[in-house]
Amino acid sequence: MKNIAILISGLGSNMSAVVRAAERDAWHDRIGARVSIVISNKPGAAGLKFAEDNGIPTAVVPHQDFPSREEFDSALAQVIDAHSPALVLLAGFMRVLTPAFVERYQGRLLNIHPSLLPAFPGLDTHRRAIEAGCRFAGATVHQVTAELDHGPIVAQAIVPVLPDDSADTLRRRVLAVEHGLYPRAVFDWLRAR
Ligand code: GAR
Repeated sequence: MKNIAILISGLGSNMSAVVRAAERDAWHDRIGARVSIVISNKPGAAGLKFAEDNGIPTAVVPHQDFPSREEFDSALAQVIDAHSPALVLLAGFMRVLTPAFVERYQGRLLNIHPSLLPAFPGLDTHRRAIEAGCRFAGATVHQVTAELDHGPIVAQAIVPVLPDDSADTLRRRVLAVEHGLYPRAVFDWLRAR
């Protein structure tokens, strides 16, 4: 069985999209994959409830309980490793990871970022895309490397930027395509391996 561990910090709508796709498209039977754990660094993350309601084990590793990034990442890795995952997904996981953590999961760590990388890595991507006059925006699934939002691109989806867009209307349009993009990219990734 190919276990998938998903890391979240908040709403977890991308995690929910992966969980729903895995169920709807019978990943268990077709590619021998399942979401085996959802982990949040925030105790109240809304996504935890969705996971619990869908029978998926959850864990919380609160980053503020640890004096350093290294200690947080190593506690997180312990929880992840208990599931021997074939794939670790960052899904709105808003923590910068240490090089040691990234190295440990090299080749099995993916992230989704709400811009057309390499454009607009980092935060506040939608406002920056509008201010730059972009006619298109989108989302990118990429492999995670030590440099934030810079790993090899796995898949992308595009949306138009409309003349009267605010950062929030664009954010919602991008998020809607993320929900198709991430599950598709994960399915293809696991099927090929
Ligand atoms: C998504 O738009 C995701 O691309 C973004 O946070 C949102 C999380 O939403 N991730 C990043 O900005 C990472 N740098 P979700 O919790 O509903 O999946």
